[in-house]
Amino acid sequence: MGVRWEFDGVLVLALLGLCLCAAPVCEGGITSSYVRNKDLVHDMPLDSDVFRVPPGYNAPQQVHITQGDHVGKRVIVSWVTPDEPGSSTVLYWAENSELKKSAQGIVLTYKYFNYTSGYIHHCTIKDLEFDTKYYYEVGNGNTTRKFWFRTPPSVGPDVPYTFGLIGDLGQTPDSNRTLTHYELNPVKGQTILFVGDLSYADAYPFHDNTRWDTWGRFIERIAAYQPWIWTAGNHEIDFLPESGESKPFKPYTNRYHVPYKASQSTSPLWYSIKRASAHIIVLSSYSAYGKYTPQYKWLEKELPKVNRTETPWLIVLMHSPLYSSYIHHYMEGESMRVMYEAWFVEYKVDVVFAGHVHAYERSERISNIAYNIVNGICTPISDPSAPVYITIGDGGNLEGLVTDMTQPQPSYSAYREASFGHGIFDIKNRTHAFFSWHRNQDGYAVEADSLWLHNRYWKPSLSMTY
Ligand SMILES: [Fe+2]
Repeated sequence: MGVRWEFDGVLVLALLGLCLCAAPVCEGGITSSYVRNKDLVHDMPLDSDVFRVPPGYNAPQQVHITQGDHVGKRVIVSWVTPDEPGSSTVLYWAENSELKKSAQGIVLTYKYFNYTSGYIHHCTIKDLEFDTKYYYEVGNGNTTRKFWFRTPPSVGPDVPYTFGLIGDLGQTPDSNRTLTHYELNPVKGQTILFVGDLSYADAYPFHDNTRWDTWGRFIERIAAYQPWIWTAGNHEIDFLPESGESKPFKPYTNRYHVPYKASQSTSPLWYSIKRASAHIIVLSSYSAYGKYTPQYKWLEKELPKVNRTETPWLIVLMHSPLYSSYIHHYMEGESMRVMYEAWFVEYKVDVVFAGHVHAYERSERISNIAYNIVNGICTPISDPSAPVYITIGDGGNLEGLVTDMTQPQPSYSAYREASFGHGIFDIKNRTHAFFSWHRNQDGYAVEADSLWLHNRYWKPSLSMTY
């Protein structure tokens, strides 16, 4: 009898367990079973080779480029000279051309508590030809440094173009692995869409800005050769009034210039660019976005200007995700979702990339715009006009991964995993783009998650989901 009861008890427990285990699978998409080791990570030491100062007196360092106008015919080249202002001139020439041209930039410095920056140069190179490789030089004499970039093809609807996606990078060994995996990915990204949280210098006492300098040297190996499209995150706010630093985004806006005026924006924290077949809108999760604010009024005017016949792919970048099923930062993007989600659906945004949550997640195409506070309709529903929301805050910073997820997996969540990595958004033509997510623990060619996206304007009916 005793044996029989014990057996029945085990059976009941097993059945109960089966029901409980089955629930998350039924409710939502895939939660990866990969469990990462949770050892605390630290920033790479100051004397790491990735932070090496280029040799020579006053040699330019922290060289990085970004798009300098609305269509890709200008490039902003930025760099720092540590000892004296030196020259703000950039010499540049097209591949197969002997004619060297020069562009004159500006130099600035800033102070942050007890830190004084080096001499930060910003120079916009104008009137470039599309789809052309250019070499450029900064510095003088024997400390001249030479780099190159390729301009994008002319803006047009069927221009293939490949964007990389990186967020929340920091400067740890994991950050370094992310950059290496991006560099060695057989699919070659041509421009990085960066979704905020750059150096994490604010993790140090008084936000030690020397960690902004090390970060600038760390990313140079990619950022000097292809544009990074910048989005500000919470670690760019650098608000430290108790130490006299009450102007938000001070180090970020001094170091990373963006072409915001080209899209009639009044702030570098929100702007747009067109590049190849994409129209990219950058928003600021940490600037006012309520009705009547400058950001709201800008976006209200910007969205109707998007010409899907010219740029079929409409991409939005922001730092704090509107949909995330991780417990950390849960619903921090909710108020921006309330303000802007209806517009994203109305204007058929293809994909919204965000960071902030240190993990990866991809949503179904869903919207939650029917709720009016009294009707109770507050559950996301399938919506073929809605964007896919992708959280890619898994660059590798010192705060580590977030692993706690809401259970069961909500139906809006298609795939989620707490691993470091990067994304690739590979536009093929006006109707198709291929997104892939690459984890640092895999080989360089492995796609841990991927999907074909059908353009919401040109191919909206074929797939409800993607
Ligand atoms: Fe963040």
